[in-house]
Amino acid sequence: MSMQGVADEDRIELNKDETKIMKLRSRKLLMSLIRPIRLRLAVSFTLVVFSQAFRAVGPALIAFGIDKALPEAIHSQMTPLFLVVGGYLFAALATASLTYSFLKFAARTNQNVLFDLRQRLFVHAQRLSLEFHETYTSGRVIARQTSDLDAIKELLDTGGNEMIAGALYMIFTGTALYLLDAGSFAILLVSFIPLWFLTRWFQKNTKLRYRQTRVASARLIVKFVETMTGIRAVKAFRKEKDNESEYAVLTEDYRSVNAKVIQLFGIYDPGLTMIGTVTVSFILLFGGFRVIDGSLGIGILTAAILYARRFFDPMEGMAMFYNAFQSAESALEKISGVLEEAESVPEPAHPIKLDDPAGHLKFKDVEFHYSNGKTVLPGFNLDIPAGQTIALVGTTGAGKSTLAKLVSRLYDPSVGKLELDGVDLRDLSNLQLRRAIVMVTQEAYLFSGTVADNIALGKPDASPAEIQAAAKAVGVHEFIMSMPDGYDTDVNKRGGRVSAGQRQLISFARAFIADPAVLILDEATASLDIPSERLVQEGLQTLLKGRTSIIIAHRLSTVSIADRVLVMEHGEIIEDDTPAALIAGTGKFSRMHAAWRASLV
Ligand SMILES: Nc1ncnc2c1ncn2[C@@H]1O[C@H](COP(=O)(O)OP(=O)(O)OP(=O)(O)O)[C@@H](O)[C@H]1O
Ligand SMILES: [Mg+2]
Repeated sequence: MSMQGVADEDRIELNKDETKIMKLRSRKLLMSLIRPIRLRLAVSFTLVVFSQAFRAVGPALIAFGIDKALPEAIHSQMTPLFLVVGGYLFAALATASLTYSFLKFAARTNQNVLFDLRQRLFVHAQRLSLEFHETYTSGRVIARQTSDLDAIKELLDTGGNEMIAGALYMIFTGTALYLLDAGSFAILLVSFIPLWFLTRWFQKNTKLRYRQTRVASARLIVKFVETMTGIRAVKAFRKEKDNESEYAVLTEDYRSVNAKVIQLFGIYDPGLTMIGTVTVSFILLFGGFRVIDGSLGIGILTAAILYARRFFDPMEGMAMFYNAFQSAESALEKISGVLEEAESVPEPAHPIKLDDPAGHLKFKDVEFHYSNGKTVLPGFNLDIPAGQTIALVGTTGAGKSTLAKLVSRLYDPSVGKLELDGVDLRDLSNLQLRRAIVMVTQEAYLFSGTVADNIALGKPDASPAEIQAAAKAVGVHEFIMSMPDGYDTDVNKRGGRVSAGQRQLISFARAFIADPAVLILDEATASLDIPSERLVQEGLQTLLKGRTSIIIAHRLSTVSIADRVLVMEHGEIIEDDTPAALIAGTGKFSRMHAAWRASLV
């Protein structure tokens, strides 16, 4: 189990080893993405080389046309001129069609890479255990799936193509100019000095500003998400006005850094044009003198001017590449962190099969601490015979939910083991585990879909009759029938909205239909009113029959249906007996029970 990746991107300072591990991890991911498409990449590269070569051929043909073909045409020898014009048109056509093929091909390849990465991230993040998700907030998982993937998309869609095409174009143009006229090439070389300074300045500033825009946009998103997810608290405490002004400040920050980015382009673009223009004028001046003294053909001068004019075209895209590359690199590092995260409750390679589990649970010298190191269960032994109904009570933070999470194997014990019918939970397949042990929590989440779909979650192949029987058993049938479309009501549509208590009832039906050997209810009746709870309790009797069950409840009314009460304190069982015996005694439970009785009147 490694929580390495979780920690990485939260800290600014990483030591050398951590940086090395992160780079290796990210390179490994990159290789695994590239390997399946390496052939396509080779094709893309070939296409782009040829398209840029043809693009650089034009001016040279013009030079030949003016200096060689034109004089011959004057002497009625038209063939060379036609050849030059034909060649020129052909080069333009070849450039266009090759560029088209390259862009189309590269786009398809890039989209495949993104598709692959997106899928892998979803599948893996979903499979990771609860431990990961309790540490790595959903906001961060969302950021991996959205802004990080966007950064990579940005690089693949534009940055990468522009960089490669631009670099090749400049190399071909430079070479052609050198071969045609070394003097003009020398002037072009000199122009590299201001170009270098201007580009460095631009890169340094855009890097800074882009980081600021990312920070500003992240802050905006966090504020927005926090406000909207906490909208009830916002309204209850009349926080709207404060939020408005805080949000206005954040929006202003975002606006102003974006304006600054645009200003940088406002300087860089004309700067490039200036350098290009000055270079061209020097080539014209210097070339002009040589044409006059006859050492340079006028066609070559024309070509040199054309080359120099177009030489700087790809610069802006290339200067931006570095930024896109850096964001994509850090995004890949973060994504690789999630993908490398190991499951903390892995499925066994050779699962043991339990035919028709009875539900005998046994904790053997179990110790448990969460990854923050705090010990919650210090040394735990417990035997729950099959079919027993347990009421688990205790103060807030005693470790009741932790125990429930261990039984349903959302976590594994740090030391010792937990057995179902004598088999270590770690040796059961996920499928078997989910069939044998079901936990219902206070959360009672309903997924988009109909009420029937949500109940059938407990048994995907359930018939409508079974679904109705389950709903009747827990006493929610009448309510469902009162909804606009009965069992076919969409829970996300108007009219399909259900209250917290109704949600819990539906999740009871879900558990009932699953018919597990072990059932855990963690505060599962907390949102019900007393009459509904009483109704559920009648249903509960049916629900609990013939299976092992652990009921965790603050309201002690459930205790009456239990065979055995466990009182938990600081991760240990301090009392363990029948409800009647405990109530009659003088221990913690009898005091809790007396206080609860008093609260009822
Ligand atoms: N994901 C977690 N990471 C770290 N510590 C945790 C985590 N979940 C719970 N704890 C800690 O473990 C202890 C036991 O928590 P648990 O949720 O099991 O208590 P509980 O008995 O169910 O309490 P309650 O009655 O309030 O539901 C608490 O001290 C809590 O702070
Ligand atoms: Mg709890």
